[in-house]
Amino acid sequence: IEVLSVTSEVYPLIKTGGLADVAGALPGALSGSGVTMRTLVPGYPAVMARLSGGREVASFADLFGVRGRLVAGRVDGLDLIVLDAPALYDRPGNPYVGPEGWDWPDNWKRFAALSWVASELGLGLVEGYRPQVIHAHDWQAGLVPAYVKYGPSSTLKTVMTVHNMAFQGTFGAEIFGQLRLPEHAFSVEGVEYYGGVGYLKAGVECADVVTTVSPSYAGEIRTPAFGMGLEGLLNNRSATVFGVLNGIDMDAWNPATDTALAQTYSASTIQNRLANKRAVQEAFGLDPADGPLFAVVSRLTWQKGIDLLAANIDLMVAEGAQLAVLGSGDAELENAVRSATMRHPGRVGLVTGYNEKLSHLVQGGADVMMVPSRFEPCGLTQLYALRYGCVPLVSRVGGLNDTVIDANVAALQAEVATGVQFAPPSETALADAIRRTLALYADEKSWKKMQRRGMKSDVSWATSAARYAQLYASLIGLSTDDSA
Ligand code: ADP
Ligand code: GLC
Repeated sequence: IEVLSVTSEVYPLIKTGGLADVAGALPGALSGSGVTMRTLVPGYPAVMARLSGGREVASFADLFGVRGRLVAGRVDGLDLIVLDAPALYDRPGNPYVGPEGWDWPDNWKRFAALSWVASELGLGLVEGYRPQVIHAHDWQAGLVPAYVKYGPSSTLKTVMTVHNMAFQGTFGAEIFGQLRLPEHAFSVEGVEYYGGVGYLKAGVECADVVTTVSPSYAGEIRTPAFGMGLEGLLNNRSATVFGVLNGIDMDAWNPATDTALAQTYSASTIQNRLANKRAVQEAFGLDPADGPLFAVVSRLTWQKGIDLLAANIDLMVAEGAQLAVLGSGDAELENAVRSATMRHPGRVGLVTGYNEKLSHLVQGGADVMMVPSRFEPCGLTQLYALRYGCVPLVSRVGGLNDTVIDANVAALQAEVATGVQFAPPSETALADAIRRTLALYADEKSWKKMQRRGMKSDVSWATSAARYAQLYASLIGLSTDDSA
């Protein structure tokens, strides 16, 4: 089965979050399942820089008013088709926002172009290549299902994966005329959304199948609190909405071979994590203390519950813990953490900015990984934490609910607990969870067992890649298995 994955970021070329990790790992995870996945991605500078030796397979004299071409090439095992359109993508920094921190004003065009090109590829634009399924990720690829629905092909199928309902790509109605869609696409059955144009809405409306990245989130987004306006639409088509849990790249994230670590280790040499703990303490300006080291590796946003964390830092320090925070985001939240570092020198450390290597070291050295999110479609940091023997402390939402087994009495008795969960996402519930984690940490033997269980739990792509393969197959009628 030929599948074209359409994404605005892909690890290791360009990453702002979990989407890149997923888009980067899925093609490899599918190998051996009968699925060949190529990836269409915009030609940002970071992508073009890696694409030496690529070959031009198509060109556009008028790509939404600018020139562009498609360059195919292999980079780090990924079979890429890159949309090289300098007027749209040759810009410094983040894929979505300019240097001032505002969304690029022509984002509607940048990602409409990406999606339109995907649908052209689906129609056989490049000789010798004809995907049967286009797999669109997030709002940036949300128009793909619309272009396919209103296009000429009746056999091309689409999968829309929602990685985060909070980002929907909504624009004013005035752009509609430039989208290369027929008039009647501006309707409830098409791209129209509250009088404007909704890219994610279009994808969720027009795709053959909608998936999201965990079973719990698939249920949550059918309610107003999490659906963010799209819950009605999802309820209308609930038979074709599936939750497929993300996995992780087991090679890129392997504590036994990870070159970002001060010291590699495995489940049987967990004591070797100590060297990494010291390295983390040094990197974050913390005392080389032996108490519990909590950590956060995250975008610093409301979604991630960073305000709940900030409100609990004094408590953590009072209880003898240290905290290392790696992340950047909202200035207010960043400042709240920074002021805690000044109140508690040697106990609380903050490193701002994006640092892939340091994120690995933190997983390999911290004792507890905190993910106190208000909503979390899947979450990858807790999966990396499990794999690295860093015990996850998470809120009980979305993928966090599906991947961490809370150390309640029954789970401890059955010896299956892998972390700590709390609900609801509030300051006081987090405070209780912190105290519960500290009590567990104090029992060295059972803590180590919990670490080991995490390291042995299956966070790979195996099950979910098979699930995607099955979805693609059922879409193109290769399988009669409708249990999908
Ligand atoms: P989201 O995509 O919502 O941000 P995920 O947990 O799915 O959340 O993915 C976050 C990814 O980004 C993980 O790979 C995590 O390690 C990484 N990450 C987040 N912040 C940073 C940072 N400041 N430096 C390095 N990696 C980071
Ligand atoms: C989004 C979500 C995150 C998920 C990631 C990859 O960024 O916020 O929960 O893990 O996508 O699917």
